[in-house]
Amino acid sequence: MTTQTDVSADAPARVATERTILMCRPEFFTVDYRINPWMHPEVPTDTGLAVSQWQVLYDTYRELGINVELIDPIEGLPDMVYAANGGFVIDNIAYGAKFRYDERVPEGPAYMRWFGDNGFDVRVPEHTNEGEGDFLLVGDVILGGYGFRSDTGSHTEVAEIFGREVVSFELVNPSFYHLDTAIAVLDPVPDSDGKQNIAYLPSAFSAEGLAELESRFPDAVIVSEEDASVLGLNSYSDGYNVVIASRAKGFEASLRERGYNPIGVDLSELLRGGGGVKCCTLELRS
Ligand code: ARG
Repeated sequence: MTTQTDVSADAPARVATERTILMCRPEFFTVDYRINPWMHPEVPTDTGLAVSQWQVLYDTYRELGINVELIDPIEGLPDMVYAANGGFVIDNIAYGAKFRYDERVPEGPAYMRWFGDNGFDVRVPEHTNEGEGDFLLVGDVILGGYGFRSDTGSHTEVAEIFGREVVSFELVNPSFYHLDTAIAVLDPVPDSDGKQNIAYLPSAFSAEGLAELESRFPDAVIVSEEDASVLGLNSYSDGYNVVIASRAKGFEASLRERGYNPIGVDLSELLRGGGGVKCCTLELRS
């Protein structure tokens, strides 16, 4: 039996916005190296299952009216399915990724080639960064993560390229090594109250970062360790529909209460690479 949470009477009206994203079918997905604590190369993976679970995510996006572009997967790059790491795109400018670990380095140029071939103004990065895994746009402000993957030099580079403020957050828990595993942006544009909210896991941040989050987002949805540990925060919102890990039940209830429409999908096989819904999704903002 599922318990239905009532939408709280004062929740603002939520509106889905038009979105275009980039995804990569996990045809060559496996876990054969370990660059985060979720990965266990000694345990065999099921590529067919990864593809079918990914297909459900793809179909869910299409049913929601989201435009989905596809980049061809490349054999030998098993993590390429995590398209969020392929770059960071605003105003038709695509800032490329420069990966921390050798195993993923070739993905950077592969994604930049796709951006160039598809009419984006490509900026080759000087500093190490893993794209939208560590950069999240909230209104006119960019939240940037560092500590495990992206360097703070990339935060400066991003601020210059996009002409926007970048607020840097240190990540302190190796299981939440990308910002998009610790923060979910719920409102890509302001809601009917003029607010743009986020959800986050407090323990993923340093004391300084946490204080910054509390002052900027006093109404944020606070997510439990339990929900974060199924990568519940690694979700994708169009402003009304929020595609989340189906096992993140507490987060699902909080979203419903605030007037969002959570939609659960099961990406258990891709979780074994340390990624979820958002990791498989790169926003293309033209
Ligand atoms: N195995 C990949 C890595 O460790 C997972 C990337 C997840 N992506 C994300 N946007 N959090 O790099």
